[in-house]
Amino acid sequence: MLIGKNPTQLMPFTYPWAWEEFKNLCKNHWLPQEISMSQDIFQWKSPGKLTAQEKHLIQNILSFFANSDVIVGDNILMAIYKNINNPEVRQYLIGQAFQESVHSWSYAHIVESLSMDQQIIFSEFKKEGTIKDKHDFQMQYTDGVLDPHFNTDTLENRQMFLRNLCGYYLGMEGMQFYSAFVLLLNFKRRNLMVGTAEQLEYIVRDESLHCRFGTRLIQQYIEENPDVWTTELQNQIVSDIQHVVKLEDAFVADCLPEDILGLSRKDFEKYIRYIAQRRLQSIDLVSPYQINETPFPWMNEIMDLPKEKNFFESRVTEYQAGMGLDWN
Ligand SMILES: [Fe+2]
Ligand SMILES: [Fe+2]
Repeated sequence: MLIGKNPTQLMPFTYPWAWEEFKNLCKNHWLPQEISMSQDIFQWKSPGKLTAQEKHLIQNILSFFANSDVIVGDNILMAIYKNINNPEVRQYLIGQAFQESVHSWSYAHIVESLSMDQQIIFSEFKKEGTIKDKHDFQMQYTDGVLDPHFNTDTLENRQMFLRNLCGYYLGMEGMQFYSAFVLLLNFKRRNLMVGTAEQLEYIVRDESLHCRFGTRLIQQYIEENPDVWTTELQNQIVSDIQHVVKLEDAFVADCLPEDILGLSRKDFEKYIRYIAQRRLQSIDLVSPYQINETPFPWMNEIMDLPKEKNFFESRVTEYQAGMGLDWN
C-alpha cells in the first residue's frame, strides 16, 4: 500500500514500477555547469543578435521557471513525501526533489551567465501578471495539504491530497512547463541561445519522466482509494485542467504579443489543448478537447534524447576514472 506499515523495508518491492522509475531517473543525472554557455553570453551581449522583444521573452520564461521548480520541490518534500510512506515510492520522491534542485540551479546558472538582473527575474513577477496567476493557481493545491495537522485519514483529505497530486504532476509538471519549453527551445532551431536550450532539453526529459511517474502514482492512489474518485472530484480535475489551459493562453499571449520567431499563438493554443487531452486521458477522464496532432512534433524528439549523446559519454568516463582512485 502507498501508506503501509513498513516504511523502512525496501524489499521485496510492492511497486516494482516505482523502483524502475527511480533507476531511470538516476540514469539521467546531469549538471548545469557541464553545458557551455559561452556562445549564449556572446549572443546575449552582442547588439542586434536578439531583439528587445526576444530578450523580454527569454527573461519572462526564466522568471517563471526559476521559481517553479522550487515550488515543485517543496511540494514533494512537504506534502507528497509526508503522506505516502511506501519506501520505493519515497526513493523516487527523494530523487525527484534532488532533480528539481538541479533544475533550479540550471536556471540560476543561466541567469548568472547572462548577467541578468536577479531581482527582476526572481521577484518582479510576484507583483502582478500571468506568471503570478500561474503560481497563485498552483499554490491553492498546497495550502490545505501543508497544514501541520493535515493527514489522509478522512475522505475529504484524501480527495484534497489526490487533487494536489493531479495539480502538480499533471497540471504543473505536465502542462504549465510545456509552452514555456517550446518558446525557449525554439531559439535553438535558429541557432540562438544553444547552451540555454540544451539545459532545457535535459530538463524537458526529466520532466517528462516525472510526469510519467506521477501519472502512475495517481492511478495507484485511485486504485487503492476508489471511494475518493467521485464524479464530483473527476469534474473538479477536468475543471482544474481547463483552468490551466486558460492560464497558459494568457501566459503565451504575454510572452508572444505578436506572432514572432515562426511561432503563432494559434499553434500554442492547439498545443496546450493537445497536452491537456493527453493528461486527462492518462487518468481515464474524458477530455473536452479533441486535438490528436501536435503542432510542435519536434518537441517529442527532444523528450526522447538519445542517451548516447556525447554529454553522457563524457560523464560515464569521468565516473569510471573516479572509481579507480586509491583510498588507502
Ligand atoms: Fe523541474
Ligand atoms: Fe519535475
